[in-house]
Amino acid sequence: MKAAIYRKYGPPSVVALGDVPTPSAKAHEVLIRIHATTVSTADWRARSLAMPAGFALFARPVFGLFSPRQPILGTELAGEIVAVGTCVTRFQVGEHVFAFTGAKFGCHAEYRVMPEHGLILQKPANLSFEKAAALCFGGTVALHFLKAKGNIRSGESVLIIGASGCIGSAAVQIARHFGARVTGVCSTANLGLVRRIGANAVIDYAAQDFAVLRQTYDIILDTTGTVPYARCGHLLKPGGRLLIAHGTLATVLGIGGPTRSSGHQCLAGVAKVTVADLQLLADLATSGAFRPVIDRSYPLDRAAEAHAYVDQGHKRGSVVLTVTTTG
Ligand SMILES: NC(=O)c1ccc[n+]([C@@H]2O[C@H](COP(=O)([O-])OP(=O)(O)OC[C@H]3O[C@@H](n4cnc5c(N)ncnc54)[C@H](OP(=O)(O)O)[C@@H]3O)[C@@H](O)[C@H]2O)c1
Repeated sequence: MKAAIYRKYGPPSVVALGDVPTPSAKAHEVLIRIHATTVSTADWRARSLAMPAGFALFARPVFGLFSPRQPILGTELAGEIVAVGTCVTRFQVGEHVFAFTGAKFGCHAEYRVMPEHGLILQKPANLSFEKAAALCFGGTVALHFLKAKGNIRSGESVLIIGASGCIGSAAVQIARHFGARVTGVCSTANLGLVRRIGANAVIDYAAQDFAVLRQTYDIILDTTGTVPYARCGHLLKPGGRLLIAHGTLATVLGIGGPTRSSGHQCLAGVAKVTVADLQLLADLATSGAFRPVIDRSYPLDRAAEAHAYVDQGHKRGSVVLTVTTTG
């Protein structure tokens, strides 16, 4: 099969189309022909080893000491089941599915196997393959931080830094679903988008420093690594939570965080993903409460160009790779 492959760490040009053996489904696995996948910030980090401050030492042990352990990137996909293992009962050949492989990657290819009880579900019928491929990356991180970590409640006020990005644009919609009042921080060009996906208010970070405004929030979600507690603690209400999707090692270790007497919490770490999360995202997509934002699409053989665009750090939602099988 064709796949976008990288054999060494580096700039987007290390990614090139190549041939690898097509996988086959074992007893409890399904084989998916991929129609669409995404190039995410996880792909950028795994390819370039660009890591948040303090995490550089962990990068090679995680991704491969001398060269990438997994030469095919891509954390999410949408496609069609083309073969099932002998013991599979949950899926049938011909079903349309979406799936999340996360840190196991492997979606920038024509085919991918998944365990039938893994992070894979039927594709919402009202979503194209491109939209369905973009459900998981931002959606699962937004859910993890807002719900599992942040315990978001109806009526709360939420400030989302980086509201036009993949995680941010999912977070705006998911926070609204949970009944929160949402303010999105983004650049001038993205104010309209962030309003359209449901933000009650927007702040243009190029024109206004939100940290000097008087508004206070129950939750602040930072997807940009620009808002440590020292910069925004005074904006948190009593009981307020700072959720750090993009943080340094110091913030993850709690250095510079709130004192116990402040009544605030600073919550960071790596998002955990469950099938229940995927089911909720599918349900929200079906009801129209969550529509993944797609910035642009590239064919698989132009994956390096897609990487170059993602590297700029200013995409709106997701960048999609469309996959057409060669036979
Ligand atoms: N903790 C976890 O488990 C986890 C999981 C996945 C990803 N992450 C991390 O989360 C971060 C965000 O990921 P993503 O996929 O959402 O990235 P993304 O799609 O590239 O979005 C980044 C957003 O940041 C905005 N931005 C850049 N500078 C800004 C600033 N100074 N103020 C406000 N917004 C700014 C950009 O908007 P403009 O174009 O408007 O500037 C862009 O929309 C990445 O560092 C990623 O590694 C963490």
